[in-house]
Amino acid sequence: MVAGRRLSALMLVLAVALGLGQAGAADPTAVAGTGGAVVSAELAASQAGVEILGAGGNAADAAVATALALAVVHPQAGNLGGGGFAVVRFSGRVAALDFRETAPAAARADMYLDGRGRPVAEASLIGPLAAGVPGSPAGLRELHAAYGRLPWPQVVEPAIRLAGEGFRVSRRLSGDIAEEQALLGRFPSSAAIWLPGGRPVAAGALVLQPELAATLRDYAAAGPSAISEGPRAAAIEAASRAHGGILTAADLAAYRPLWREPVRFSAFGWQAASMPPPSSGGIIVAQTCGLLQRTGWAALPRFGADRAHQLAETWRRCFADRFQLGDPDRTGFDGSPLLSASWLDLRAGQLRRHATPSKKVRPWSEPAARESGQTTHLSVVDGDGNAVSMTTTLNGSFGCGLTVDGAGFLLNNEMDDFAAAPGQPNLYGLVQGEANAVAPGKRMLSSMSPLVCWRQGEVLVLGSPGGPRIPTATAQVLLNIVVDADELQAAVNRPRIHHQWFPDAIFAEPDALAPETAAELKRRGHELREIKAIGDVSAVRRAADGGVEAAADPRGGGAAVVQHPAPG
Ligand code: GLY
Repeated sequence: MVAGRRLSALMLVLAVALGLGQAGAADPTAVAGTGGAVVSAELAASQAGVEILGAGGNAADAAVATALALAVVHPQAGNLGGGGFAVVRFSGRVAALDFRETAPAAARADMYLDGRGRPVAEASLIGPLAAGVPGSPAGLRELHAAYGRLPWPQVVEPAIRLAGEGFRVSRRLSGDIAEEQALLGRFPSSAAIWLPGGRPVAAGALVLQPELAATLRDYAAAGPSAISEGPRAAAIEAASRAHGGILTAADLAAYRPLWREPVRFSAFGWQAASMPPPSSGGIIVAQTCGLLQRTGWAALPRFGADRAHQLAETWRRCFADRFQLGDPDRTGFDGSPLLSASWLDLRAGQLRRHATPSKKVRPWSEPAARESGQTTHLSVVDGDGNAVSMTTTLNGSFGCGLTVDGAGFLLNNEMDDFAAAPGQPNLYGLVQGEANAVAPGKRMLSSMSPLVCWRQGEVLVLGSPGGPRIPTATAQVLLNIVVDADELQAAVNRPRIHHQWFPDAIFAEPDALAPETAAELKRRGHELREIKAIGDVSAVRRAADGGVEAAADPRGGGAAVVQHPAPG
């Protein structure tokens, strides 16, 4: 991705900073200014959001416009055929919207197991049998209906334009298409758009999506029923059946987004709100802050082994507790005991100088690990300080790979976020519980942790993709800011580590651990594994005086855009 700051030729009032596609390659300049700001995975999508702010829209209008633009220009994760979560703060009040996918009515607990009870590779990942009932069409409309200011069709307009008139493919998108060429090549409807002539669309090429533009036009006119009923719902059911799926038009018509009470917690002097179950992400970030505040983490030397050790030991326990989480409407367990003072005290008291083997850390019980990296996060503030933190996903990159003929968008493979075989590591090592077993109509457990924090007139909006690495990436950026007073971009850039209970290892980005720190961690019993990148954080910070900073993550290639850039 192109480096540095530049002014958009089309939108001279905007300042733009782009990520670079590789952690540590160089420092993208954070953009600063006044008014609103949007950070998302693609420049065209961030610009769509700021265009809507410029037209008098608020943070909800801009977030929806950005999310819909991502459905056009970031098909790896932006979507109409997937779902997500949003945490909002408007006029000082927080709320959480759940538009997570649900399992189709015909889903069964053993649908991804072979005759011997073992998960069948690929069954929950490739093709529409892997798809949950999309939540985005109803969810984005719901967010707008509750908080938006501009007329609905105006908010959809930038996405219609990008789909109908086309957009230039970024280097990131071209590279991701090349990586998923085998998946997209299985489905002619997907290959026709993203593999013309059998080759990945090149960076800089213009891509038009007339079928998606038509869907978006009808969505602008009629709302979610343009997708969940009538010919498009029939097209989704037909495409699903033709490729072995179980998704029906009745599933689409039955889908409802839900408002939930956010997870609220304090983070080293800031107040914070994030997503409750069916995401585990908010609870993990809240537990992280709760435990670290109890164990004196902030006073430990920065970048030393003590801090890394305590983070790993904290997350080992957070992910063990995650084992008990699932769709709260099915399990009856909303996760709040995991944040009780007595449980956090007990967990904090378990931390020792030496690593505790994960097999000795039991999940929470009364009373006493790959989700895909392809998710996308957008952070928005408006000129009044209202904030939207939204994470959406198809799960895997380009979801299940199938573009629906007659609708023009990809279906998700979110069913893989269920525990196909509870108690056994899934294909990516994450161990999940019976609470997250497949059942009809149930929401699959997520790790997404859209986060809004505030303190004395300041607002901070953070979030990330990355499956189980979402809450640990988000928590580290938060800690860099609220504990170590990093500038926003420095906080985002800083190398990261991760632990998820199983596999029992600290995953570390290159440069995250100095050689002497790594040696000390090994002496304390930790296994270390290198990983290229942990998360892709989109961050916005608004000061009490109305100044805004916005930072895209160099790991990804996203773009930060500020409404009124600072002079110079
Ligand atoms: N699909 C990734 C997540 O929901 O955590």
